[in-house]
Amino acid sequence: MTPKERIDWLRAELHRHNYNYYVMNAPEITDKEFDDLMRELQDLEKEHPEYADENSPTMRVGSDLNKNFTQVAHKYPMLSLGNTYSESEVTEFYERVRKALNEDFEICCELKYDGTSISLTYEDGKLVRAVTRGDGEKGDDVTDNVKTIRTIPLVLHGDYPSVFEIRGEILMPWKSFEDLNREREAREEPLFANPRNAASGTLKSQNSSVVAARKLDAYLYYLLGEELPADGHYECLQKAAQWGFKISEHMKKAHTLQEVFDYINYWDTERKNLPVATDGIVLKVNSLRQQKNLGYTAKSPRWAIAYKFQAERALTRLNKVTYQVGRTGAITPVANLEPVQLSGTVVRRASLHNADIIEGLDLHIGDMVYVEKGGEIIPKITGVDTDARGILIGEKVKFITRCPECGTPLVRYEGEAAHYCPNETACPPQIKGKIEHFISRRAMNIDGLGPETVDMFYRLGLIKDAADLYRLTVDDIKDLDRMGQKSAENIIEGIAASRDVPFERVLFALGIRFVGETVAKKIARSFKSIDEVEQADLETLISVDEIGEKIAQSIVSYFANPLNRNLVERLKEAGLRFSRSEEDLSGYTDKLAGQSIVISGVFEHHSRDEYKEMIERNGGKNVGSISAKTSFILAGANMGPAKLEKAQKLGIRIMSENEFLALLS
Ligand code: IVH
Repeated sequence: MTPKERIDWLRAELHRHNYNYYVMNAPEITDKEFDDLMRELQDLEKEHPEYADENSPTMRVGSDLNKNFTQVAHKYPMLSLGNTYSESEVTEFYERVRKALNEDFEICCELKYDGTSISLTYEDGKLVRAVTRGDGEKGDDVTDNVKTIRTIPLVLHGDYPSVFEIRGEILMPWKSFEDLNREREAREEPLFANPRNAASGTLKSQNSSVVAARKLDAYLYYLLGEELPADGHYECLQKAAQWGFKISEHMKKAHTLQEVFDYINYWDTERKNLPVATDGIVLKVNSLRQQKNLGYTAKSPRWAIAYKFQAERALTRLNKVTYQVGRTGAITPVANLEPVQLSGTVVRRASLHNADIIEGLDLHIGDMVYVEKGGEIIPKITGVDTDARGILIGEKVKFITRCPECGTPLVRYEGEAAHYCPNETACPPQIKGKIEHFISRRAMNIDGLGPETVDMFYRLGLIKDAADLYRLTVDDIKDLDRMGQKSAENIIEGIAASRDVPFERVLFALGIRFVGETVAKKIARSFKSIDEVEQADLETLISVDEIGEKIAQSIVSYFANPLNRNLVERLKEAGLRFSRSEEDLSGYTDKLAGQSIVISGVFEHHSRDEYKEMIERNGGKNVGSISAKTSFILAGANMGPAKLEKAQKLGIRIMSENEFLALLS
């Protein structure tokens, strides 16, 4: 067998096993055998770049190519469906169809999957494009990301039409969603509210290896094209299943209105056992000829309708509203409820978000309120049963005007929904929150210290801010509750060791508003020391890559406060790293200062991320797309033809990997 033959064979085998595993749920080989085949193919493809193929199974692993999506016009607009929540409207739809057609018809009943919609184009059995819904007329080309989804076939088998589109829903299964949020919680990253947001957020990721890791799934429910294999929608999809697509096994043809309602009623409860989120039922006239006769309104087809399930909700009493103060001083109102059972858990508290929401609900203490979970993790209050109010209506809920912890009058910043306690330096939960952030793993990473210990030290007056930690001794703490000599020594050692934490993490640890890890890194690379940052004006700060006005303003305000300057001064005295170390500095040059560089193609000597890092270390800026401002393109093998053309048109220099390395050496 020639290498080419072996490559073709491996690709066909891997496509087949992939389908058996992900779509049919019936693997023929073990995971190990699958991995071995994949590795063999990867090796062969590396040895023979001349046989590269965009739809090879190896393309499923994703790349870290950073790009902005291109917009593509939909050949057939992506319409939405008319929505109804009531059974009587379902009856009306059915009757309308019957009158208009005046002949027998079938209704295809389907689940309404709650994810993000996608349109896939196949040419000669190969996936050529995947586009999001966008505004219905045009959407984002997310082909590279979609290729990482295992249930979407890259190549088809069987008697597929030469050109067609197929549409469906990309979903994040409940299990992946919960795993993802658990990981994000551990990394102190914001959580996704529901699987739909997680799926669409993931699909828009600039980094397809992130998409590959997130385990998305897809169901296809709509075939479009000039030559379709059957006259029925249901039959077309059964055909599509034979070509390799994942089609819902829960589609059903109904011949009477009663059968439609049976389907609805069955799935209203049974959907809770599905691995993915659904939010209703879609009813479609099955015959394509009849669909054509019925036609479209301006926004949606007359031959289909969506019946949405009532979100699960419970009615319970609002006992009181309490307020939490976060590390940044943001105030969160919390509804304290009479405990009530809702989708399998007991709900006692619900978020009320902000003052506007409370006002909009016209909440009174003692009100009977509706609580919903509907895919969200934190239950929310969606309404008040005003009929349940007796003659004695409770007190109207008025948002507090002073901080519940320190009594300071609250403020509301322009354009923000939240109220804040501005007493940053003396409000207990803010102080404790700041110290907790300071010691956290991604900041100073102080071993042995956790929120409870911080709380105890604070209550006992041992610490009032992060700098006080560095004055603690073993003797100060060894006799405290549940402490002892050994733990005390560990804590003091952990604190001492944090003096070696690099500048960028110390900056992050300060907890300056909007200065997260990435921004802290940028600052540490652009300024040699904290003194430089402290002295920088708004303009200087904004000139740093990725720092906008909001962040710059926050940094300036931070250092304008004498208490913050004093804290930094004391942390400096404690020996923390407030400047880039010699070894950090040695790696930095100005060789690429002021240059905007695009990275494109596949590289031999370093990964794309490493090149990005090199550009930044040498004072350059890595940008995603080519424009007249681009200084040069660092090009590896297989640079995209569109990019090449654009570069040539703008007369931008294309630099090879070796030339680039020579430039820096
Ligand atoms: S058919 C012209 N079928 O619901 C009809 N849509 O508002 C095209 N959806 O954007 C859609 N499950 O994202 C269809 N079985 C299903 C569906 C479904 C979910 C979504 C889809 C669409 C929206 C309609």
